[in-house]
Amino acid sequence: MNGKDVKGFFEDCKTAAKEILEHVEKDGFIPIFCHNDPDGVTAGSILAKAVYRAGGDFLLRVIDRIDEKTVNEVRKIPSNFYVFAEIGSGYLDLLKPLSEQTKILVIDHHRPLEVSYPNLTHVNPMLHGIDGAKEISGSGVCYFVAKNMGEENLDQSCLAIVGALGDLQDRTGNRCLESLNKQIVEEAEKRGLVEVTTDLLFYGRETRPIHKAIATTMNPFIPGLSGEEDVCLGFIVNLGIPLKKDDHWRSVADLTHEEKQKIFSELTIYLSKKGFSGEAIFQLIGCVYTFLRENKWTPLRDAREFASILNACLKMGRAGVAVALCLGNRGEALDEAQNLLNEYRKTIGHRISLLFEKPQTIVEFENMYLVRCHGIVEERILSPIATILSSSGGLNPNKPIIALTKTEDGGRIKVSARANQTLVDKGLNLGVIMQNAAQKVGGQGGGHNIAAGATIPANEEENFVKFVSQMIGLQR
Ligand code: C5P
Ligand code: C5P
Ligand code: ZN
Repeated sequence: MNGKDVKGFFEDCKTAAKEILEHVEKDGFIPIFCHNDPDGVTAGSILAKAVYRAGGDFLLRVIDRIDEKTVNEVRKIPSNFYVFAEIGSGYLDLLKPLSEQTKILVIDHHRPLEVSYPNLTHVNPMLHGIDGAKEISGSGVCYFVAKNMGEENLDQSCLAIVGALGDLQDRTGNRCLESLNKQIVEEAEKRGLVEVTTDLLFYGRETRPIHKAIATTMNPFIPGLSGEEDVCLGFIVNLGIPLKKDDHWRSVADLTHEEKQKIFSELTIYLSKKGFSGEAIFQLIGCVYTFLRENKWTPLRDAREFASILNACLKMGRAGVAVALCLGNRGEALDEAQNLLNEYRKTIGHRISLLFEKPQTIVEFENMYLVRCHGIVEERILSPIATILSSSGGLNPNKPIIALTKTEDGGRIKVSARANQTLVDKGLNLGVIMQNAAQKVGGQGGGHNIAAGATIPANEEENFVKFVSQMIGLQR
């Protein structure tokens, strides 16, 4: 469809809200299935809380993908109504059998299949010409649904901001959220929930010593500095910036304007020498979203750090901790999440070094990079590894990255594909490519134009790669 129809999208959100409320009234119980990533759990949690506030009971289950196995698992939970949050739009055909006995509601922002059938309600901004890769996330869509279920859910705007940043929806907007995401930010600002400032985007800008904040930053990945605390310490000392005030470590937030400028210009020189583009360097500055109701000195006060914590919990297989944080638990849940984050960072750092140590794993083709991660990167962390590789500056940014690894059972291959906005503007759509190429080899795939994925049979790697390469060639 041509043109944006925001009004039509909001109408769909209203319809979904009405359906949920009707089912809360009739059955009292709603099973919600959400995707296993930060945008997915925030999406599911927003709906779960809204159901609870409306007087209903919920079951919130985090799922990796939709396939026949998942559909059978869903069926085991008896209900007249199933809700899918931030997952499902690309797999409406697989969900169809569920709809024969039950109503299903899919609230998502991934590239949708053009399929409709009775008993399906489908809410997706892409059906109204709104870009689900940068204008609104899955949790954002759930926020607009929840808002229609009751004004009390306006406070859930914060989770929608976390979800959008978890999906890197700020990447193409100078590290600031735009469009409908921005509308959500403004609604949160009006209620005194969030404060937006512009600053250097190092991880732990309020909570960590400066050198640690730089070393912990993975997005963008700064080769030579990310993961290297000692090098970062030397970097700051060489600039003549004091690391401590009295006995306390200073944080990035404590730096003066001049000191920040010094760091930024030195990093600019450093990164340009490494071949980074201006666009990549400016990924270091952007909008900081501070949640004013979260305790000072905790990572949940910064929206990006909140998203990173959720991501670590999920990737380390502890979805329950992520859900607990989204539903408002702190204390022990937060302590556990912080431990998981440390463990996760170590794992990622280790896998990235292994990939670069074994250069034959990264193969440059005429129109793409193929990163064969078999035996090096586990399925559950392939996605962040692909994202880091695409922002690390080490590879030509004008070629998409296709990363592959065998699944734990060895029977299938998980694929994560990443591009940049320049390629997307030239017509590249990885979501279409992953969907079509996977289908050709008996697998499943989908996603966004800029970031997509697939699962394919293990013996089809070669054919799949051939199809992907051909399709990339045709799109450009
Ligand atoms: O399933 P979902 O939509 O939540 O996943 C989005 C994925 O796409 C994330 O892994 C995110 O890192 C990636 N992404 C990206 N660049 C963008 C938008 C999304 O790498 N501009
Ligand atoms: O797993 P990864 O983060 O690489 O996925 C990138 C995007 O592609 C996500 O939005 C994800 O939901 C989508 N995807 C999909 N179907 C798959 C794998 C990933 O729609 N089989
Ligand atoms: Zn998402």
